Amino acid sequence: MKKRLRIVAGNWKMNKTYEAGRDLVMAVRDSLGPSEVVVIMCPPYIHLKPASISLKDVLNVKLGAQNCHQNEGGAYTGEISASMLKSVGCEYVILGHSERREYFKESHQLLTEKVKAALENDLRPIFCFGEKLDSREAKKQNEVVKKQLKESIFDHFSKEEFANMVLAYEPVWAIGTGKTASPKQAQEMHKFIRSLVAKKYGAETADLTTILYGGSVKPANAKELFGQPDVDGGLIGGASLKAADFVAITKAYF
Ligand code: PGA
Repeated sequence: MKKRLRIVAGNWKMNKTYEAGRDLVMAVRDSLGPSEVVVIMCPPYIHLKPASISLKDVLNVKLGAQNCHQNEGGAYTGEISASMLKSVGCEYVILGHSERREYFKESHQLLTEKVKAALENDLRPIFCFGEKLDSREAKKQNEVVKKQLKESIFDHFSKEEFANMVLAYEPVWAIGTGKTASPKQAQEMHKFIRSLVAKKYGAETADLTTILYGGSVKPANAKELFGQPDVDGGLIGGASLKAADFVAITKAYF
């Protein structure tokens, strides 16, 4: 029987010079050991090719990018396309991160186009979404998450397309703040997300969907979060920048 993937993904954001990034990739590679979890490293673009060379023979470690443009190519100064990412060994791409939504004004519609571009180029989107603090305080988190999923994903993609996506629930109030959703809050939301997927694409698809939690995951809280039945791993920001912490989180799983 097919099982859903357990994933620990590191989102380096805009961190690490060329040398520091190379050292981090190698430090993670050398201390990982065999893992039942799929480990994904998402460094800035400049690190992708050297990382793909360093990780060539390492099973279960994959490369992802942090963004891509929705178009295939052309006059879009400073941008990068899904096919370019594919050509340097990427298999995943983070889309819809709250920092992209907030600072770069990425809309539901734009995200749909980016997800399409990723899928057309055989990249698996790690689609991020999650509520801000005011919505959580107003108990509107389920409504917000439902809308984000509906408008960017459910209204546009078939079950077969959706099967290639990974979801990442990242409450904005927990990102980079040191505040983590409690295991109970994470489980409640992940269960709700899985129920939305089941309603749209059926129970079997929902059961196979990997739903990551993101927001101040650290070695100290990873085990309890990953121990929740509907939390299938994490998207790790700050703690992915230190090899020992990131590797400890990958090992927190089982
Ligand atoms: P954080 O970031 O782990 O530093 O909170 C998570 C993310 O933004 O994906």
